[in-house]
Amino acid sequence: MKGIVLAGGSGTRLLPLTSAVSKQLLPVYDKPLIYYPLSVLMLGGIREILLISSPDQLPLFHTLFGDGSRLGLSISYAEQTRPDGIAQALTIGADHIGTSSVTLILGDNIFHGPGFSHLLQSRLRQVAGALLFGYAVSDPQRYAVGETIEDGSLVSIEEKPAEPRSNLALTGLYAYNNDVVDIAKNLRPSARGELEITDVNRAYLEQGRAQLVRLGRGFSWLDAGTHDSLLQAANYVQVLEQRQGMRIACLEEIAYRMGFITAEECQELALRMGQTSYGHYLLDIVEREATRSD
Ligand code: DAU
Repeated sequence: MKGIVLAGGSGTRLLPLTSAVSKQLLPVYDKPLIYYPLSVLMLGGIREILLISSPDQLPLFHTLFGDGSRLGLSISYAEQTRPDGIAQALTIGADHIGTSSVTLILGDNIFHGPGFSHLLQSRLRQVAGALLFGYAVSDPQRYAVGETIEDGSLVSIEEKPAEPRSNLALTGLYAYNNDVVDIAKNLRPSARGELEITDVNRAYLEQGRAQLVRLGRGFSWLDAGTHDSLLQAANYVQVLEQRQGMRIACLEEIAYRMGFITAEECQELALRMGQTSYGHYLLDIVEREATRSD
């Protein structure tokens, strides 16, 4: 399974915050927004990741992650010259995908909830068509909306419908088998001129190969597309992290816990953070684990 993080777009809804820097590099409390979607791929066990962004922002992402090796990942980079649609990530990423299946995540989506890592690992192991993740929201018209029947299976998907048939938003996390490359290559731009991810998902749905995973009550899916939702996401992370003393989307911790890096490598990353609470947190984790295995 390969991974793609799409972190382009023009970020116009967040101006002037995004005049000089991409939305996905903005802070969400204690870390850049892109950490959150990247953590999802890592929790799913995905280590070969392509990061797609606009030509002017790509060097900044490279400064942040390099080749990914310090996190035990292999991160490569590709340009999207214009935001011509989310599905374009799948054609830009065709070489990266090769003959594998792929998980695509939008660089502004935040997922957090109990058992998510386990859920991802078990579901991503067996992707026969498209795997879509649904979440009940109060404002479905802002998203792709899925309609289901009694047995829970999907029967329709509409992109930002004025009159949604349900409150089930389809999130910016998608897993596909390798057919997705051909499906994406054959897409035509929509009325708004974009290569729509919803058209990819509909192609699978029409073939009876789109499966839905519902992220239920108690799960959090946040997008950081507006000033308010960016602040809400930061507040959410702050409340949970301070209350529990556990960090959300701490990539170094995840890399260590997933076995992508050793305790020594994690310690080295922690020391690079200097006297920050983030650095201390990482050091504590390594120490605690070491004591436990003594
Ligand atoms: O967040 C989930 C929703 O994301 C889905 O429910 C929708 O089906 C999907 O279309 C998308 O809706 P948005 O309104 O959030 O799409 P937006 O155009 O804002 O793009 C989402 C992210 O992807 C955003 O961070 C920018 C990035 N992007 C977008 C486009 C169109 C790119 O990097 N390149 C692009 O060409």
